[in-house]
Amino acid sequence: MIVGSVKEIKVHEYRVGLIPPHVSVFVSMGHDVIIESGAGEGSGYTDDEYVEAGARIIATAQEVWATCEMMVKVKEPLESEYDLLKDNLILYTYLHLAANTPLTQALLKHKVTSIAYETITDDFGGLPLLKPMSEVAGRLSVQEGAKYLEKPFGGRGVLLAGVPGVPKAKVVIIGGGVVGTNAAKIAVGMGADVSILDRSNRRLEQLDNMFGNTIQTLYSTPAILASQLETADLVIGAVLIPGASAPKLVKREMLKNMRQGSVIVDVAIDQGGCIETSHITYHDDPTFVVDGVVHYCVANMPGATPRTSTQALTNATLDYGLKIAAHPINGLMLEDKHLANGLNTYRGYCVNHEVALATGVAYTPLKSLLTLL
Ligand SMILES: NC(=O)c1ccc[n+]([C@@H]2O[C@H](COP(=O)([O-])OP(=O)(O)OC[C@H]3O[C@@H](n4cnc5c(N)ncnc54)[C@H](O)[C@@H]3O)[C@@H](O)[C@H]2O)c1
Repeated sequence: MIVGSVKEIKVHEYRVGLIPPHVSVFVSMGHDVIIESGAGEGSGYTDDEYVEAGARIIATAQEVWATCEMMVKVKEPLESEYDLLKDNLILYTYLHLAANTPLTQALLKHKVTSIAYETITDDFGGLPLLKPMSEVAGRLSVQEGAKYLEKPFGGRGVLLAGVPGVPKAKVVIIGGGVVGTNAAKIAVGMGADVSILDRSNRRLEQLDNMFGNTIQTLYSTPAILASQLETADLVIGAVLIPGASAPKLVKREMLKNMRQGSVIVDVAIDQGGCIETSHITYHDDPTFVVDGVVHYCVANMPGATPRTSTQALTNATLDYGLKIAAHPINGLMLEDKHLANGLNTYRGYCVNHEVALATGVAYTPLKSLLTLL
């Protein structure tokens, strides 16, 4: 199989779909790997490193798209790339098609076999290719929060750990899933006083077992949340209701009771945010202030640390990618239900029910299609 990867063209996207150590794995399995010149630069990988790993460097993205049989990317193709899509291409990347009717139509028109990272499942009911980015965002949320608590960045000027004789800062984490747990690890490590609120008793029990006395677990109700906010220095929004917009748990009127210069990092902003006053911001101007509270609401936080994020993402995508490259799609999808869940479009048919519903295109169950072909 000819496997390709190109430079991401989305603004401020520095990750890359394939890294040199993984290229050598593809090559050792007999695949031919082609990489657009400069594709890895944003993540700190040079063309020479790709060549050493066994890839061929290609001058233009157009040529990579035209030559490869399987394209491994990070983000969805942008409009300027739609005409590069082609019959029978396997596209393996984040797609988020439910929110993107034009791309869904382009993939169907060009009969692309598209496999979306975000819909591949695992045996534990999880989404293994979303998890690494939640881990990065969770850890980063405390790092960013600590920075914006500094006075020159608009914060109230407190140090998370305090010092002997001076209290630690209080970090309140709303939602104790992957983001919340990773935020807690960093906040505890930095010496803060940490509370995690969740609505799942099972999750609260797991967190208690994981962190012991180093954190406080709290069942989340509006009253408990309101009282926690009053004494918080840093609030991390990390709630998720799968398939739905994030609930607005922190209401505007609650901000009035918060400390001036306290900081909210609304990680859930990519699902609309769980703070009523949040709106999406970007890495070049990530914060704004409402009622004296600093808000950080970047929807693609892992983009700030492309080297780490690329390594974490590609570690998770490699094994599925190798499987896809090694087997005919038909048989593979019949055998592997988790990869079949990742398949969004196939030979001009939309095989993901949620994507079809959200975009208004016709839905064709994959099973019926595979038996017909
Ligand atoms: N901004 C970014 O760059 C970025 C990056 C990665 C993930 N995210 C987002 O972060 C959010 C969290 O992701 P995750 O992977 O941790 O999800 P997760 O499913 O692992 O965790 C979500 C947690 O929220 C809890 N929850 C649900 N309703 C609640 C409520 N009313 N009160 C308190 N807790 C509640 C759930 O019980 C669960 O433990 C998602 O919206 C995700 O898309 C954003």
